[in-house]
Order: sequence, then structure tokens, then C-alpha cells
Amino acid sequence: MALRSQVVGCGGYLPAKIVTNDHLTSMVDTSDDWIRQRTGIAERRIAADDEFTSKLGLEAARAALDHAGMKAEELDLILCATSTPDDTFPATATKIQAGLGVGRGAAFDVQAVCSGFVYGLTVADSFVKAGQAENVLVVGAETFSRILDWTDRSTCVLFGDGAGAVVIKAANGNGTATDRGILSTHIYADGRHHDALYVDGGPGSSQTTGHLRMQGKEVYRHAVVRMAEAIDAALEANGLTPGDIDWLVPHQANLRIIESMARRLNLPMDRVVVTVDRHANTSAASIPLALSEAVADGRIQPGDLIMIEAMGGGFTWGSALVRW
Ligand code: UT7
Repeated sequence: MALRSQVVGCGGYLPAKIVTNDHLTSMVDTSDDWIRQRTGIAERRIAADDEFTSKLGLEAARAALDHAGMKAEELDLILCATSTPDDTFPATATKIQAGLGVGRGAAFDVQAVCSGFVYGLTVADSFVKAGQAENVLVVGAETFSRILDWTDRSTCVLFGDGAGAVVIKAANGNGTATDRGILSTHIYADGRHHDALYVDGGPGSSQTTGHLRMQGKEVYRHAVVRMAEAIDAALEANGLTPGDIDWLVPHQANLRIIESMARRLNLPMDRVVVTVDRHANTSAASIPLALSEAVADGRIQPGDLIMIEAMGGGFTWGSALVRW
């Protein structure tokens, strides 16, 4: 017998406002062609003025709890992976908790930028395996539109707003890769790459306002290498091979990166969940949003083996292997 973190529900939320590539051509010197060819992005969602990260996260949390058939009162822990919190403090997770109308359990944020959801899953899994929590909500929620420099064409076309969430429940398994739940997580960081992707200010002790700055090529180069390493680590830890994977649910930053990961795993693109075309890069929200979409439309079925991978500012990166 071994404790496993089963994923028993998932859900997503996207703001209503759709901004197409053509729309952006009125703001910066860009084109629909350039954005589609270099990134695969066609459109993104942008939060309304009164929609903060906690609001998006709360909607996703409600959807995930509904899907799990679980009440918010049953949660022992609420984690919110975000780099765009409502406030410096308190944690956005506590605002989501209040929105759910509960006052029990623990709630805190996880900050690992685009790898935030994989980091959040890792924390949740560790709490479950340590016997510290039975039911955990992991939310990835972002409003990157608020930290973009809308005059910088090299970054403002790449991101969107949204939220996704999963509900995790402690269950007993047999300790093998046939168990349902999180089979393993691997997370990494190398803080020497700060300057490749960061926000030049924002809530914190150093500055007051800030915008996202990125050396895109540098991030791209590291992303393909690091995520491949994290995928290999996940397979090796479980005695599995690429042929065992049913679905790749990657962080959605750039279709070219996603395709190169799929090629490396020898997975046809119809086994890869892609949302970057419609959501753009929603940072910590991209994976739970993609997961929710593929579960809701029936692509992902019980028993399927799902490879999750992400890479983001820090650098941070990681993978998770989940038996659905
Ligand atoms: O989620 C966190 C992880 N983030 C990522 O994984 C992002 C990784 N990086 C990327 O996805 C790609 O590097 C980008 C999509 C950001 C850029 O694609 P690229 O193929 O690396 O293009 P580039 O930065 O080398 O730019 C090529 C050209 C440049 O012009 P010159 O110098 O060749 O004349 C840019 O100025 O494209 C120009 N450019 C644009 N042109 C039209 C940059 N942005 C735009 C734009 N529209 N929006």
C-alpha cells in the first residue's frame, strides 16, 4: 500500500474578452502572420478591469470542485500558483478561500512563474504523502495582461489571462505506475538566469511598478533542453518509456516548443493537448486549462498516462507524470 495523490476533478475559467492578433496590429508593429508562424498563437483572453487573478482562480476552483463532487469545506489546503497576485499580501490563495466561503485548512501561493502549476502539484503531492492533507486544491491563475509592456511587440503578443484548477485527494495505491494519481514530480531551478525573463518591478521590496522583460531566444533555447531533461527524469523514475505516454499536456508558450517536445517523444500531435492557439501563454494557468479542456471533451480517459512539463522565469522547470 502506498499513498497516492489522485486528481479527482479539474476545471478552468477564461475571461470573456477575446483579443485577436489583428487587434494587436493597431497597438504595435506586428502581424497575424508573424505571430502565428513564430508562436502558433491566434488569439488570447484579456481580463476585464474588475477581474483580478483571485476572481479567475475562484471560478476555476468552483468548476474543479463541482467536477470532483467535493465541497470547499472538505479542503485541507488551497494552493494558488501565480506570478500576478492581487496584492503583495495576503496570498491570492486566501482570497480564493474566502471566495469559496470557507475558513478552515491552510492556503498559500506558489511562485514559480510558468512552472508554477508543476511546483504546486509537487507541494500538494508532498503534503498528501506526508499525511498533512487529504484534499488539496491546486489553482493556476494569472492576469499577465497587467504586467505586459503594451509597446513591446516582442512580449505583448505572447501572453493571455486565465485560470485552471485541479482537486487532489489522498488514496491508497499499490505503489506502481498502474496506480491512479500523481506518479512523480520533478522540479528544478537555476536562478542564474534571472535576466532572461523577469519583471522589472512590481509588488516587492525592490521597486514599485513593473513589466515583463524577456530574451525570447535565450528562454527558447533553455526550454527545449530543460523540459526534455525533466521528461526523461519522470520516465526513468517510473520505469516507463515514451511509448507508454497517452497524452502530453505541456505548458503552452509556443507551438514550436510543444512540437519539438512531441517529436522527441515520438508522439503524434493528436496526442498532445494544444491551447496556445486560443489562450496564448497563460503562465501557471496554461497546464490546468489544457488539462480541463481535454478532460471535458473526453480526450483524456481514466487510466491514461499524462506527461506534464513546464519551464518559466527563474529559470524554473519541471515535469509531472499522472495516471488519470
Ligand atoms: O512561458 C515562459 C517560457 N517562454 C517561452 O518559452 C518563450 C520562448 N521564446 C519564444 O517563444 C520565441 O523566442 C519568441 C516567440 C519570443 C520569438 O521568436 P523568435 O523566432 O525567437 O524571434 P526573434 O526574437 O529572433 O525575432 C525575430 C525577428 C526580430 O527582427 P529582426 O531583428 O530579425 O529584424 C524581431 O524584432 O522578429 C521581430 N519581432 C517581431 N516581428 C513582428 C519580434 N516580435 C515581433 C512581433 N511582430 N510581435
